[in-house]
Amino acid sequence: MIPTELARLKQIGRPITILTAWDSLSSAIVEAAGADVVLVGDSLAMVALGHETTLPVTLEQMLHHAQAVGRGFNRPPKEQPLVVCDLPFLSYQCGEDQAVAAAGSLLKNSCTAAVKLEGAEPEIIKVIERLVRMGIPVMGHLGLTPQSVNQVGYRRQAEDKNSQDKVVANAFKLEEAGCFSIVLEHVPDSLPSLIRHKLTIPIIGIGAGADCDGQVRVTADLLGLSSKQPPFSTPLISGRKLFIDSLKSWVDLQHDQGENPTNSTSQ
Ligand code: KIV
Repeated sequence: MIPTELARLKQIGRPITILTAWDSLSSAIVEAAGADVVLVGDSLAMVALGHETTLPVTLEQMLHHAQAVGRGFNRPPKEQPLVVCDLPFLSYQCGEDQAVAAAGSLLKNSCTAAVKLEGAEPEIIKVIERLVRMGIPVMGHLGLTPQSVNQVGYRRQAEDKNSQDKVVANAFKLEEAGCFSIVLEHVPDSLPSLIRHKLTIPIIGIGAGADCDGQVRVTADLLGLSSKQPPFSTPLISGRKLFIDSLKSWVDLQHDQGENPTNSTSQ
């Protein structure tokens, strides 16, 4: 799938599904589940690297994980999900040249076909325009932007009319700058419908209600693997408990077999 295909899916009213992956095991699972897009999100800083925020992850680490994601796919290349990789903190905020070099290195050296970056400040709009002009597709990200955690925290954004108007205006700016879609995170459920019917590009929600052109989720959250679950992402299963209980049974079995070697099995 190519990035512009998402606008066609929006046009025909087919909801878009995006799941994150951070290594070859998770990308194989997400591909087999049939997601349209795999996001190598900078949330991997927290999900896979144990950081408290997304800020510490580096471009080199994002590339390393994007390469692993690519190695996990099993379908022929043309049938694989579109891969979007987050540009990490400070890889695009310091200017257009640096952003092109960062995004270019992800496209050149991994399965990444597009990048995602946060915000719509005038400097960011310039970066997006330059990336798009250089042939690098860009997904925008508004609402809660985790790279600004030190300014906005993790609380729900756009609670009042003024800030909702600002998000709407920023969505228009991102479309005009050439983004092929926009992630809208942790905002009131009523906000996406104020935007999505006025744009041709899809609005992909997370913690933004059901009235979006598609949904994105952090796979570890959906599987209930995270110890810190975001309030807007209800897990489908209690993966963490399931894994721990299963592994604990195996550990206990080994101990039992050590005590009673005549009962041992090959497990
Ligand atoms: O990094 C990430 O996983 C994301 C999603 C929360 C959209 O940006």
